[in-house]
Amino acid sequence: MFFGGRASFGLDIGSSYIKAVQLKEKRGGYELELFDMVHLPPELIVDGSIIDSIRLVEALRQLVKKARIKTKNVVIGIAGHASVIIRRISLPEMTEEELEESIRFEAEQYVPFDIEDVSVDFQILGPKEEPGQMDVMLVAVKKDIINEYVNVVKEAGLVPVAVDVNAFALSNMHEMNYEIEAGRNIALVNLGARTINLNVVKNGISVFTRDSSIGANSVTEALQKEFHLTYDNAEKLQRGEEVEGVSPEGAFGVMLAAYEEILTEITRSLEYFQTTTVHEETSRVILSGGGALLKDFPKELARKTGVEVSLAEPFRTISIPKRFDRTLLEETGPIAAVAVGLAMRRPDDR
Ligand SMILES: Nc1ncnc2c1ncn2[C@@H]1O[C@H](COP(=O)(O)OP(=O)(O)OP(=O)(O)O)[C@@H](O)[C@H]1O
Ligand SMILES: [Mg+2]
Repeated sequence: MFFGGRASFGLDIGSSYIKAVQLKEKRGGYELELFDMVHLPPELIVDGSIIDSIRLVEALRQLVKKARIKTKNVVIGIAGHASVIIRRISLPEMTEEELEESIRFEAEQYVPFDIEDVSVDFQILGPKEEPGQMDVMLVAVKKDIINEYVNVVKEAGLVPVAVDVNAFALSNMHEMNYEIEAGRNIALVNLGARTINLNVVKNGISVFTRDSSIGANSVTEALQKEFHLTYDNAEKLQRGEEVEGVSPEGAFGVMLAAYEEILTEITRSLEYFQTTTVHEETSRVILSGGGALLKDFPKELARKTGVEVSLAEPFRTISIPKRFDRTLLEETGPIAAVAVGLAMRRPDDR
């Protein structure tokens, strides 16, 4: 085989957990080769920027060792409203080659940074209703943020073969695991520690994306403040463990109050999508990220948005060898959503 033979794994470097997923192509589908993660202390990555690269490299090395990762080739994901611009734009019909030539020029008016400072990519989505026009998904990522991540990964002894955007990793994860629901808008919401990645897909195509810098960490901080806890203990409490005499039941009210800001942000983003793009309803939210595991969060999100919410199942169609703990995979599945999407990427994909 000439194509697809190069093994690589998906590496989702979040501010709270680094996740690694490797998939093996098998009879038209995938088999799970590896899934593992390491926890990061707070403040190593802030606003998507790497603050302490030395400790991040250490954590990466630790993960490679712990997960017994054999391949060095890795696909990484980038996110963040300050570094990633994703726009659906309308252009006169032209070939991929022609657009390749002119994309930087076209991108200039949509990118609020110097065009020299960003790496630009695109995908032609198809013709528009108006004749002679076509829809294009434009992606611009700041070069310095790509370099920060690429350098850290290289320092850890790995070889970055592709850089993706978290929002698109989510839609890949979705495409692989779910049937397309014709004509419906499905909102993929990834609630991390410090970011929300939103990607609304319709007929398998991304129609709206938005990253916000708020996340489950604000719940952790609220618990820390209320009960005078260390960050680690507040996180344990948030997961349902009793700490320093504070029971999860006793902490739930504080958690619910802290959800409000996150719920408002997601609701606002969905409303923005609705009013600016299509004037169509969102049919369903598929929730992923560690924040999806917050007690009753999916229920609260459904109440607030009035939209049905389900937890992402990134391993749904992936065959799982016996050596994995199925129950654990099901429980932690939502955390792996972005990494699974990254793991599906092949270096020659667009
Ligand atoms: N079982 C759980 N119950 C409650 N909260 C959880 C649970 N597991 C993880 N979390 C929370 O989810 C967050 C981590 O999720 P995730 O790994 O998706 O974030 P991240 O990718 O590291 O962050 P970001 O992408 O925002 O930089 C943390 O705030 C953590 O406290
Ligand atoms: Mg994340």
